[in-house]
Amino acid sequence: PETGCLSIIVLGASGDLAKKKTFPALFNLYRQGFLPAEEVHIFGYARTKISDEELRNRIRGFLVDNKAASSKYSDDVLKFLELIKYVSGSYDTEDGFRRLDKEISEHEISKNSHEGSSRRLFYLALPPSVYPSVCKMIRNCCMNKSDLGGWTRIVVEKPFGRDLESAEKLSTQIGELFDEPQIYRIDHYLGKELVQNLLVLRFANRFFLPLWNRDNIHNVQIVFREDFGTDGRGGYFDEYGIIRDIIQNHLLQVFCLVAMEKPVSLKPEHIRDEKVKVLQSVLPITDEEVVLGQYEGYRDDPTVPDNSNTPTFATMVLRIHNERWEGVPFILKAGKALNSRKAEIRVQFKDVPGDIFKCKKQGRNEFVIRLQPSEAMYMKLTVKQPGLDMSTVQSELDLSYRQRYQGVVIPEAYERLILDTIRGDQQHFVRRDELKAAWEIFTPMLHRIDDGEFKPIPYQPGSRGPVEADELLEKAGYVQTHGYIWIPPTL
Ligand code: BG6
Repeated sequence: PETGCLSIIVLGASGDLAKKKTFPALFNLYRQGFLPAEEVHIFGYARTKISDEELRNRIRGFLVDNKAASSKYSDDVLKFLELIKYVSGSYDTEDGFRRLDKEISEHEISKNSHEGSSRRLFYLALPPSVYPSVCKMIRNCCMNKSDLGGWTRIVVEKPFGRDLESAEKLSTQIGELFDEPQIYRIDHYLGKELVQNLLVLRFANRFFLPLWNRDNIHNVQIVFREDFGTDGRGGYFDEYGIIRDIIQNHLLQVFCLVAMEKPVSLKPEHIRDEKVKVLQSVLPITDEEVVLGQYEGYRDDPTVPDNSNTPTFATMVLRIHNERWEGVPFILKAGKALNSRKAEIRVQFKDVPGDIFKCKKQGRNEFVIRLQPSEAMYMKLTVKQPGLDMSTVQSELDLSYRQRYQGVVIPEAYERLILDTIRGDQQHFVRRDELKAAWEIFTPMLHRIDDGEFKPIPYQPGSRGPVEADELLEKAGYVQTHGYIWIPPTL
């Protein structure tokens, strides 16, 4: 691994994303020894004029973990906060960035006794509207200058534009300043344990290889549900809606990993090549295969316009035009203010031909990957009901992580992804052409929603969403198993 100074610069340091995700992830990396104090310095940058101490105090509250309230823990918090320095300045003029560069360089000089290169990681926890100007400032004022080598990388977070055109424009602007290997587009779903497991599962197991196709699989659902609404984020959310917020990125990334062909190797470019290919094989989405919803009360948020047409729920069918998947509906579904919180992939197999047990009534085989909460994989299958009678019953082979991997702490998505950016591994980041292909799928529909031509159906908060969505599932051929429900095991 590379050594030498590592400067991590969090831009937008006093914002929500930085406090809730970036700094806690950095802290966890620090605690596990990935950010050694003799090499690492962290800089916060934002417009607000505050002192180092004030920034540290703001962050502190997000690091406190009651379960881990040991003195070692509080000691770690203190030492970690000492690594953080704050610089204030604007996002579009050079003087702030020059001061920032000076601070970074001073840190690099002071650590220079430690032989090695200088590494500068800029984390843009900012609204994308300022990405172009901030990237320009970094490019002009803050690039790594060490003769001993090293790098400058930037981490950016969605939304990457609002549609194909704006996303391409943003990509071009950033692309003029940084090369693709320097740009890390985060999609935090790619950092989730069970999402990272997908490639292993599919390509390291003989079980799945022959089954994973149109001959055996009837339909696939990729589902995201939240049991709360937009909770104070109405203003942001209304600009984007559920398709841009969840489906075009998080669910589509999962979709790629479920549907893509086997990559040539595990090299990031090989994996991303396959993702692009499957995205390019997606057929245009038809109106009959989309149901949009908006929960009642969504417009009560003062930051949401009274006539908002923004969907907070969507179910849609994606169809892939290739040899493996022709005819298999991939149902993507996401909603806010529903009756439960979970994210999962549900692969439903076809009925058994020539069934002699009359199992059809009971349900089809399903393979479910529960991304969260209660990470698990389970296979729903039919077995003989234990006892004297020859009757059948639905059961499952269950690999629940909490039970199987007791004591193993599953890392936070951001933690893992930030470590990848330090190590220079782009496998779990979105490449420019991948982003473009993703926007191509949704842009026509999004424009029609924006123009008010396609309207969401109202639904009750706390419900399953509009009934029309369940009807669409049924039409797509999904058969719900009745009288059976998987219950995550408790320890
Ligand atoms: C974010 C969305 O990207 O993901 C939020 O902007 C959503 O609206 C969140 O709540 C969900 O992330 P997770 O990791 O809690 O499933």
